[in-house]
Amino acid sequence: MHPFAFLVILSGLATYKAQLCRNEDVKCDEVQYVLNGEPIRLPCCGNINDSSNITWFKNGSHIPFNSDPQSRIHQNRNVLWFFPASLEDAGWYTCVLGDVTYCTRLIVFENEKGLCYNRSTLFSNRQPSGATKIICPYVWDYVDISKAQIKWLKECQPLQNDKYYALADALTIQNAVKQDEGLYTCVVQFEYSGTEYSLTRTMDVNITVAAASHVPFMRNPRNTIEKVELGSAISLRCEVIYGDKNFMWTYNDSAVDEVYDSVKTGYFNSSMTEDREPMVYRYLNFSEIKEEHYNKKFYCEILDTMTKAYVMLQRPDPNLQPFLIAFFVSLIFVIINIVIAIKIFKTDIVLWYRSSCFAGKNKKDGKLYDAYIMYPKSLSETTSKPIDVFVLKVLPEVLEKQFSYRLFIFGRDVLPGEAVSDVVDEAISQSRRLVIVLGSTQSKNYLKDDFEQQIAMYDALIRNKIKVILVELEKGMEYSNMPESIQYIKQMQGAIRWKGDFMQSNTKFWKHMRYYMPRAAALRHQNSE
Ligand SMILES: *[C@@H]1O[C@H](CO)[C@@H](O)[C@H](O)[C@H]1NC(C)=O
Ligand SMILES: *[C@@H]1O[C@H](CO)[C@@H](O)[C@H](O)[C@H]1NC(C)=O
Ligand SMILES: *[C@@H]1O[C@H](CO)[C@@H](O)[C@H](O)[C@H]1NC(C)=O
Ligand SMILES: *[C@@H]1O[C@H](CO)[C@@H](O)[C@H](O)[C@H]1NC(C)=O
Ligand SMILES: *[C@@H]1O[C@H](CO)[C@@H](O)[C@H](O)[C@H]1NC(C)=O
Ligand SMILES: *[C@@H]1O[C@H](CO)[C@@H](O)[C@H](O)[C@H]1NC(C)=O
Ligand SMILES: *[C@@H]1O[C@H](CO)[C@@H](O)[C@H](O)[C@H]1NC(C)=O
Ligand SMILES: *[C@@H]1O[C@H](CO)[C@@H](O)[C@H](O)[C@H]1NC(C)=O
Repeated sequence: MHPFAFLVILSGLATYKAQLCRNEDVKCDEVQYVLNGEPIRLPCCGNINDSSNITWFKNGSHIPFNSDPQSRIHQNRNVLWFFPASLEDAGWYTCVLGDVTYCTRLIVFENEKGLCYNRSTLFSNRQPSGATKIICPYVWDYVDISKAQIKWLKECQPLQNDKYYALADALTIQNAVKQDEGLYTCVVQFEYSGTEYSLTRTMDVNITVAAASHVPFMRNPRNTIEKVELGSAISLRCEVIYGDKNFMWTYNDSAVDEVYDSVKTGYFNSSMTEDREPMVYRYLNFSEIKEEHYNKKFYCEILDTMTKAYVMLQRPDPNLQPFLIAFFVSLIFVIINIVIAIKIFKTDIVLWYRSSCFAGKNKKDGKLYDAYIMYPKSLSETTSKPIDVFVLKVLPEVLEKQFSYRLFIFGRDVLPGEAVSDVVDEAISQSRRLVIVLGSTQSKNYLKDDFEQQIAMYDALIRNKIKVILVELEKGMEYSNMPESIQYIKQMQGAIRWKGDFMQSNTKFWKHMRYYMPRAAALRHQNSE
């Protein structure tokens, strides 16, 4: 339904009314138009069914018309038929029945050149409001409309659009708009006494928004679903534009408040829409939404027009946002924990990985030693100093015996005092790591002028061939006294500190040590081959 109704105005001239016969002479207010060559009927005095004493005059002259249906003009009871009319038939036709005189003017016209109509002979008809419907006028006197073939033209072109719907003598324009205005012609083809005739009528169709007659239009509800919380109160509104107080809220074909106690229908109230159209509305108030109200269609029905539309109430969708936030927060928490755990257990993870079968093997670098152990040698003293114990006893005990590393320890594998420079150079270049053990702070100048150390530092730092592992034996080492290269290493990668005494197993220290050492000595025998 449209929010407003269309009024079709068919303008023109020709019309006849079933007038009462009047006892007046000559006054001719009836005009009949006929296209040259088409049939026309001139009835005398409406619906009188007695022809015996009718007398016909044309232009004032009495003409005795034939009643033989085969003749072109014939009289059938009170009707004068032209099959067909021709130009010379134009004139004033008067019939006299008893003391009654009835007059009709007949105009026989021709179409305009190249057109299917003559603009001065358009039919006029005012259609009632509602759908845009054009009636092909006055054809039912000639043919049985239900069987007639009626062809419709707009501006003399056949109609092709889907929006037209022809039934019997009517043409409906669906969803008519201003562009549908124009001259519509209907052509009815029929046979009479073995001859084909046609009737052609043209209407001027005006489509306008009617001011007076409106079809009620339901603006609300609109067959929608409304989400409402259980227990809440809501008001639904039925709004009918151009409405009367003739609609109601229903459920299951009963008034809603008869079905549900907690639901109240409001009064009819009137207002104006934004487009200044009058509107009548009516509330349906739920004081408290209950389970029983969900998934039911509450209709508003306009009783006259059988129009109805519904609202269906539904539970709102669960709000997923808190769940999503919680999920992402915990995800971030888990990730942070994993990162922290990886940081804490990095050493263990790497060691585990190395020991697992997934670990690749060491590169075949052809080196003989896993680490070159460098430490301040106390040439003149006994080997009872802690640093000597650590380097000469503890380190080999664990790294060599337990983990099968092969170490080159200066004071063990080559003795100081020998002409060692070549040996040391060779040994360092054959090592994968350089372990620098820093001991007691008393020996301040240790390592300083050591040739051995110079070469090692050169290798480690400049050519970056060897990775350096700093091992502190004591807390709070004073680095400022040490060579810059050591300070640099300490700054860059820190040091592993030996805690506790030598008797205790110091697993954390060894884990770190192994972490910085090359992979397990898997290629030990490869190298020895
Ligand atoms: C129909 O519209 C035309 C112009 O569009 C106008 O000339 C004519 O008078 C109108 N007819 C009626 C009956 O309103
Ligand atoms: C008119 O008269 C004819 C016969 O004279 C009759 O058959 C017919 O029913 C009548 N019609 C009416 C409307 O009186
Ligand atoms: C015709 O009219 C005459 C008088 O004018 C009348 O006597 C006669 O009965 C009428 N015939 C019929 C059939 O009515
Ligand atoms: C009847 O009168 C009309 C108008 O005056 C005229 O055009 C027509 O020719 C006349 N017809 C006859 C048959 O006299
Ligand atoms: C249209 O009809 C009128 C009579 O209503 C007539 O005077 C006019 O000549 C006709 N136009 C054409 C083109 O035949
Ligand atoms: C609808 O109403 C009829 C009687 O008026 C009743 O038998 C039927 O159960 C109702 N249906 C529902 C869904 O309430
Ligand atoms: C229904 O609700 C509307 C708006 O909430 C209110 O204006 C109206 O008075 C209520 N009507 C009834 C009958 O409760
Ligand atoms: C609606 O109509 C009722 C009575 O018909 C009236 O009491 C009420 O004030 C009206 N409400 C509005 C908003 O016009």
